[in-house]
Amino acid sequence: MNPHRHPILTPIAGRIPPTLSAPLAMRLDAAMQAALPTLLAREAYVVTRVATLLDVLAVAPEPADLVQLEHDVRTLKQQLRDLACQGQPGLRAIELADRLLASERPELMDAAWSPAWLHAAEMRWLDKFNRDLGNYARWQALVLAAVADVPEARIEDVAAGAAGFLLWLAEHTDRRDLHLSASDYSTNYVAQGQRAAARAKPGAIPVAVLRRDATHLASIAGQVDLIVCTQATHHMPPALIARLVHQGLRAATHGVLLIDVLRSAGGMLAAGIGTNLSTPAPPLMIDAMQSIRRGFLPAEFALYGHLAGARYVRADAQGPAYAVLHARLHAQ
Ligand SMILES: C[S@@+](CC[C@H](N)C(=O)[O-])C[C@H]1O[C@@H](n2cnc3c(N)ncnc32)[C@H](O)[C@@H]1O
Repeated sequence: MNPHRHPILTPIAGRIPPTLSAPLAMRLDAAMQAALPTLLAREAYVVTRVATLLDVLAVAPEPADLVQLEHDVRTLKQQLRDLACQGQPGLRAIELADRLLASERPELMDAAWSPAWLHAAEMRWLDKFNRDLGNYARWQALVLAAVADVPEARIEDVAAGAAGFLLWLAEHTDRRDLHLSASDYSTNYVAQGQRAAARAKPGAIPVAVLRRDATHLASIAGQVDLIVCTQATHHMPPALIARLVHQGLRAATHGVLLIDVLRSAGGMLAAGIGTNLSTPAPPLMIDAMQSIRRGFLPAEFALYGHLAGARYVRADAQGPAYAVLHARLHAQ
């Protein structure tokens, strides 16, 4: 048996349906997804203002526009929740519980005072966690499906940390025609990723590791086929997520694939128990649980897709732990 794989967690990770692990979150999500078209039609004026702000911010970022965008996106998110729960006290109770669960408090790895060694250690642990639990393999399937009809597909993983996912994919995929790049705005993570890329196994596809802000993608408009972003949007405020999706849709011919933590009480409990069994280091345990509280319901991802101007928007839960958005500018 592979000594890196956890005997209990690995076999069940990803196999539990979200309706079983997060039944209440999924009920709220279904109601929010159903309410989304009504919200977008009812708030057409604000939706148009958001689209205009996103267009302007792509070419001439102004702090005041970012403040307005943040306000508008937050307001729409709350209105979506309210609309979904209208006249349904049971759903409202679930919504209130979800509001208590959700938290915007930064993770320790985002705190200005946290040392570089902690950042590097968290990134290594996250990489090991994703390898061991089969997350990379599941994300690979989503990525390859999104570019199935694109020969020589150019894929950029943004906010990629130390490039763990694409380095894994480069080693394991059967598709030898992919052009892979991984970017992050942290020079430390980029350096960590470049060192890892230099140590790649013979036969792996090369991965370019570079520095880039995931919310400033206008300079690569049309230059890639898929923008991927895993486990990073929960580190960003709503306006920046909207910017990432908006600019990503214009950077990539086949759209944006966001994969991030599904917010649910069950997920938070599992993260607490799972990190306790696999990595009993307090900062990692705290951040694992906090990342779930900062996570998403798929309907929130869908809202970002529509606000960013996507015509094709698919947002759902993947397994017990992840919310996934695939958005494309054109309907197919
Ligand atoms: C939890 S790590 C996830 C790393 C990797 N995507 C993964 O799944 O393992 C979050 C990453 O997002 C990066 N990040 C946050 N905001 C960013 C931005 N605006 N541009 C680029 N990177 C960003 C951080 O530097 C960090 O490496």
